[in-house]
Amino acid sequence: MKEIYLDYAATTRPLQEVAEAVAVSMINTYGNPSSLHKKGVEAETILKETSDKLSKMLGCLADEIIYTSGGTESNNMAILGLCAAYKRRAHKLITSSVEHPSVLETFKYLQTQGFEVCIIGVDKEGMLDLEALQKAIDKETLLVSIMHVNNEIGTVQDIERIGGLIKQKNKDTFFHVDAVQSFGKAPISVKKCNIDLLSISAHKFYGPRGVGVLYKNKDVRINPLIYGGGQQKGIRAGTENVPGIAGMLKACNYADQNMERLNAHYRTCKMYLSDSVLEHIPDTFINGPDKSKGAPHILNIGFRGIKSEVLLHALESKGIYVSSGSACSSNKKVKSTVLSAIGNKKEDLDNAIRFSFGMDTSLEELSYVADKLEEQVMLLRKYTLGGRHK
Ligand SMILES: Cc1ncc(COP(=O)(O)O)c(C=O)c1O
Repeated sequence: MKEIYLDYAATTRPLQEVAEAVAVSMINTYGNPSSLHKKGVEAETILKETSDKLSKMLGCLADEIIYTSGGTESNNMAILGLCAAYKRRAHKLITSSVEHPSVLETFKYLQTQGFEVCIIGVDKEGMLDLEALQKAIDKETLLVSIMHVNNEIGTVQDIERIGGLIKQKNKDTFFHVDAVQSFGKAPISVKKCNIDLLSISAHKFYGPRGVGVLYKNKDVRINPLIYGGGQQKGIRAGTENVPGIAGMLKACNYADQNMERLNAHYRTCKMYLSDSVLEHIPDTFINGPDKSKGAPHILNIGFRGIKSEVLLHALESKGIYVSSGSACSSNKKVKSTVLSAIGNKKEDLDNAIRFSFGMDTSLEELSYVADKLEEQVMLLRKYTLGGRHK
């Protein structure tokens, strides 16, 4: 049976050159980057080269790059670290209702520590209510954390406008952006967007799992979450994951050189599959932005009358791998907070499938997917609804 992977927003298969760079680094540049001898310097050179590349892509200094274990750690480090460092200055935090759990849960925790948390809502397409954001920011606001691209429905926030609006209202309010779903797909300039802290995860753009980055403006302080040998200027102790970082460098180079071409390809895939599904399968609808808008690699479709988990496994039996909502939270049996936030009715909270496209996705595969979807949806509706949905 052929296998069709449409879960690239959950994770991507690393590029061959990424896997090779990881292996080469494990075998050859195995020194500890903190060691003073040649082997250490070789390993440290990989960190420096990667920081240089990232700094060029983000428009920041190489010194402003901190290596982490991924998006979750970067988000935690940014939010918890900043709040610990500035807790005497202000106590109000702002985020949106569609953030990833690694942001929302961290805010929930901070609420128990005495911080006031304000959650800004979004419209039907997942776009942030900018007026409400503007109103919410006051002299007590320490931090605003807003994601760039939503992982479940692909909404793209206007980060530049949000950054400008925050600093205009209170120049001392810090701005954190979760760019896990956008880095490598959309160009981001941290200076232009007034971003103080930004989270990246390598496995979302054909790099290895377990490696990430936190960009931190050099003038912003964060307290460490991990104490130890003082690596990375004491902000994140522990020997760096040199092979993972070597792989991420290859993934950065690839993303930088192929961004436009890949985005055009993802958009073609998204248009093709959404047209096929909406035209041929009744009682289906797009969650989030219209197919021509939003992130090109994410398409979320609701199938009325069918539980997403049931459809997910029916597709799996045909070799098709998709996701029900966000991969990171979909193994927990909770309804999507994102779909609630965009105002879906109760009956439309549990029937969404997220298709996410990658460099290897082909229209031929999507044609097969569209056929199987139609077949399985009709079959499942016959059983679950006694044929009410024809
Ligand atoms: C928007 C967003 N933020 C954060 C994360 C967490 O990243 P990681 O898996 O690298 O911890 C994810 C992962 O799905 C994500 O989509």
